[in-house]
Amino acid sequence: MCGIVGYIGFREAYPILIKGLRRLEYRGYDSAGIALIDNNEELSVYKAKGRVSDLEESVKDKDINGTIGIAHTRWATHGEPSNANAHPHYSQSETIALIHNGIIENHAVLKTQLEEKGYKFQSSTDTEVLVQFIEYIKSLNNCDLFSAVQIALKQVVGAYAIAIIEKGNPDQIIAARKSSPLVIGIGEGEFFLGSDASPIIEYTNRVIYLNDEEIALIKRNEEPKIFTISNVEITHEIKELEMNLSELERGGFPHYMLKEIFEQPETLKNCMSGRINVEGTHITLSGIIDFKEKFINARRIIIIACGTSWHAGLIGEYLFEEFCRVPVEVEYASEFRYRNPVIYKDDVVIAISQSGETADSLAAIESARKAGAFVYGVCNVIGSSIPRNTDSGSYTHCGHEIGVASTKAFTAQVTVLTMMALAIAKEKGTVNNERYLSIIKELQNIPAKIKTILSHNDKIKELSLIFTYAQNFIYLGRGYSYPIALEGALKLKEISYIHAEGYPSAEMKHGPIALIDNEMPVVAIATNNTIYEKVVSNVQEIKARKGRIIAIINEGDEGIKELADHYIEVPSTLECLDPLLSCIPLQLLAYHIAVNKNRDVDMPRNLAKSVTVE
Ligand code: M6R
Repeated sequence: MCGIVGYIGFREAYPILIKGLRRLEYRGYDSAGIALIDNNEELSVYKAKGRVSDLEESVKDKDINGTIGIAHTRWATHGEPSNANAHPHYSQSETIALIHNGIIENHAVLKTQLEEKGYKFQSSTDTEVLVQFIEYIKSLNNCDLFSAVQIALKQVVGAYAIAIIEKGNPDQIIAARKSSPLVIGIGEGEFFLGSDASPIIEYTNRVIYLNDEEIALIKRNEEPKIFTISNVEITHEIKELEMNLSELERGGFPHYMLKEIFEQPETLKNCMSGRINVEGTHITLSGIIDFKEKFINARRIIIIACGTSWHAGLIGEYLFEEFCRVPVEVEYASEFRYRNPVIYKDDVVIAISQSGETADSLAAIESARKAGAFVYGVCNVIGSSIPRNTDSGSYTHCGHEIGVASTKAFTAQVTVLTMMALAIAKEKGTVNNERYLSIIKELQNIPAKIKTILSHNDKIKELSLIFTYAQNFIYLGRGYSYPIALEGALKLKEISYIHAEGYPSAEMKHGPIALIDNEMPVVAIATNNTIYEKVVSNVQEIKARKGRIIAIINEGDEGIKELADHYIEVPSTLECLDPLLSCIPLQLLAYHIAVNKNRDVDMPRNLAKSVTVE
């Protein structure tokens, strides 16, 4: 989604802004732009469709001096990707420049009003409507820009993170947010703005997270002042970032996605560290301790999430039902928010999100909280909106995930859900001690087993060559492997653009089996579990129709090797932990097929890392 960077201080702004835009590239975008106020207090805007490098190329012979500026990467919502629709947008008089992340829902009404007053528009964006509206309010009320922004935002319906600068006023940036993230970095005599901390961390680890409907006045050489849009001044705590710069580099890997797949043995150790005691006999999740009664007495658990996080939620359903004996529902946040769902006060709602900024998940959380349910967040990005808007929660601690295709965040989410299910089951007395101890022990073996799977990377790469030109793929799994079939298919489609579907294996005969012929690759997760024999029968049904089977099997399973055209071995583990292993070859297979097809693996078309609009 759109990325925002801002700088005001003693250095040249342009290089800082460009570097910041590069750090935000991972979010996904289609055009980029920059606005600077130069030493003569003139305001200039430069923008280009395409990559940040296209923007750099377009300003090559321009005067780009100045110590204040704002910059933006755009992910199109209103209007196609083009130079005209890229941000920043000027106001009519070209004295105000504004960048925006989010959607102004009442833009059409505002635009009609402004057109009636003679305003002309250069783009088809909702953002240009906002900057024109601010200028209109400023002249109507004869007030300064800050007051105009406050008045204008009260009349705006929708979501926004914005940054604004003004010709003749080289000493201030105005920034505001509602439902879209915005972070202010506090340096020594300089300030930074970012949609997240990645463009800021190189310069300072001290940040302020703006809350909804807050507006910041960031003046050169003064502490930032923060107000509500109703003009109440707010004192904000300065937080210390835990991220470090090396997390933002590729570390010798050709893509962030591959780096992140290979990081998983380490990220899962980090995720468990401090939560499983050294003796390996107990799990403590601090987010649960204070609220254990809520979990013990929960009438129901509702899990809300989107995309890959939703797949982790499905595994959560199997875990909570098996160990905690509580009914679980897993909901797409985007449906839950508009479905008028029945929510009880003694429901526990678990929101899962890597970014912690997904707009639909945030809205679903709001509905759950309004209905009086207790809401627990499972998030990766520390200090993001979901952890700040939930009653309690657990971080996944897998470090910054940059590849748009989620990999290490997924396994960390499943690990947190496993620890949660076990910790709650222990409190409820729904798991016996022997089982509890054996799962904790095996959970700690998972990182080493993932390492073994990663050592098959070359074999998986070779296999990928056979299927690079497939048009379709089917992924099958049952029980705990069903969500992995869905996740494997999602990984493949989002980065290779090959059509792929995941199904519970036994559903094939109810329709999808009609698709099987000798051209159809079928990835069957056939690891040894309680319904192994049934999975084998399902694989036989595919084989009988000449489907090309790629089986994910346990090491040494000779029987299924004969059935499959190709196989990838993974170590055996407990059934409930199998998803943590069987997802790894599927991540690698999708990665290599996408690379073979020369796809932009880390920034696939049309996708954004952090989906901050609904
Ligand atoms: O940040 P979140 O986990 O809330 O994001 C949810 C989805 O947008 C995300 O998982 C998406 O499906 C990924 N691209 C999958 O790889």
